[in-house]
Amino acid sequence: MLLLLYNLIMKKLYLDKIDSTNKYCKDNIYNIDDMTFVYTYNQTNGRGRLERKWTYMGKDNIYASIVLKPSKKMKEIYSNLTQLLCVVLTEVFEEYGVFPKIKWPNDIRINHKKISGILAEGVINSDGNLEGLVLGFGVNLNTGEDAVYNIDQPATSLNLETGNVIDKEVFLKKVLNRFCLLYNRFIEEGFLLIRGDYLKRAEFLNKEVAVKVFDKTYEGTATDVTENGALKLTDKNNQEHILLIGDIL
Ligand code: BTN
Repeated sequence: MLLLLYNLIMKKLYLDKIDSTNKYCKDNIYNIDDMTFVYTYNQTNGRGRLERKWTYMGKDNIYASIVLKPSKKMKEIYSNLTQLLCVVLTEVFEEYGVFPKIKWPNDIRINHKKISGILAEGVINSDGNLEGLVLGFGVNLNTGEDAVYNIDQPATSLNLETGNVIDKEVFLKKVLNRFCLLYNRFIEEGFLLIRGDYLKRAEFLNKEVAVKVFDKTYEGTATDVTENGALKLTDKNNQEHILLIGDIL
C-alpha cells in the first residue's frame, strides 16, 4: 500500500534521452505541473553544483528531477528542500545496509566517497516571483569500479558498497514514497522536522572546514546546523558565521 503513495501524488515524465533533466525542467517549467517527477536513463550533459558536471554512468543509475511550484510558505524553506531530499536518500540507502554521511548542505558520501548529489535550481518569472523549483538528483546505483575511478572526485555506488546489483525502479519507489510522505509536513514545519535526522548523519560537525559562498571562502570549525538548516562556523578569530548557502569544499 505504502509503495503506491507517490503514484497518487506525483505525475511522472520519462525522457528517452536528454542533456540534463534539470535543464529540461527549467526550459519547460510553464508546462510542467507541481510535483512532477522527470527522469531519464540516458543523460548526456548532467550538471552539478559549483559548475561541475554530473557524469553519465550508464542506464542503471538515477538521473532525475522533481518539479515543485511555489506557494508563499514554500518560498521560505525552498533552499531546505535539498536537505529534505538528502535525508530521504540517506534513509533509503540505509535500507540497503549502508550508512552514508551528509556533507553540508546536501552531499551524500560513504567513507568520503560521493554516492549521490543534489542540485536545486529555481526559475524566476517576469514578475520577479519564483515560478518553480527543480530539485535534481543523481544516484550511483550500478557502476563498475573503473567508472567511479574516472570521476573528478572520490566516488562510489550502491552495488560496489553492497556487492549486489540494485534494482533502480525499487530504489526510486522508496525515494519518491518517502519524499511524498514527508513533503506536506515539511512545508508546514520546515527544516526542524528533519533536523535531528540530518544532524545524526552529519560528517562535518566539530571539524575544520572550508566553505565556499559565491566568491568567498570561510574557514573554521563547523559547530552546528541551525533550525533553518544554516551552517554555524567559528573562525580562528572566534567569530561566528551563520551560512545559509554555500558548499563545504
Ligand atoms: C552535485 O554536484 O552534487 C549535484 C549533482 C546533481 C546531478 C543531477 S542528475 C539529474 C539532474 N540533472 C542534472 O543535470 N543534474 C541533476
